Amino acid sequence: MVDVGGGHSLLVDALTARGLECLAVLDVSGAALDRAKARLGAAATTPIWIEADVTSPWTLKPMDIWHDRAVFHFLTVAEDRTRYTQHLLRTLKPGGSAIIATFGPDGPETCSGLPVRCYSADQLADELGPAFVPRDSRLHAHTTPWGSTQSFQYAWFSRR
Ligand SMILES: C[S@@+](CC[C@H](N)C(=O)[O-])C[C@H]1O[C@@H](n2cnc3c(N)ncnc32)[C@H](O)[C@@H]1O
Repeated sequence: MVDVGGGHSLLVDALTARGLECLAVLDVSGAALDRAKARLGAAATTPIWIEADVTSPWTLKPMDIWHDRAVFHFLTVAEDRTRYTQHLLRTLKPGGSAIIATFGPDGPETCSGLPVRCYSADQLADELGPAFVPRDSRLHAHTTPWGSTQSFQYAWFSRR
């Protein structure tokens, strides 16, 4: 599995603790990756760590699962979304799962001072294109650390 934008997330801790060995974390923030490695200690040798913008050139061996919570919605330039999808096609094995969570249809216009795009499950499917079969989706009301609520759209796709 690759967790895109997972540097600030505890998902890598949980999956490493469960014994998952084929695991990669990609994040544009080297500081976030360094914190995750420090948290994991000796177990930090298990995941593959990639410090890169997801839209820039990077490579990884084929993976069964692509997970992205809260990166795709920051890609406001169409060419960046195309490059993202190209990486997804290059990295995810046929039959593999892409789990992508973005701000939902009534999500905010900005996040952390940056413009974002909001998506329904159908809009996400349109962005990814015909190589991906929609499997399931759900809206989630996310409570932020400062107590407000943000609408998130989760969507699961299989690669044909
Ligand atoms: C809002 S946080 C989400 C963190 C985590 N996925 C979660 O759900 O808790 C966004 C993360 O994605 C990273 N990020 C933002 N834009 C990125 C990009 N273009 N390429 C790679 N990582 C990016 C940030 O450094 C940050 O760690």
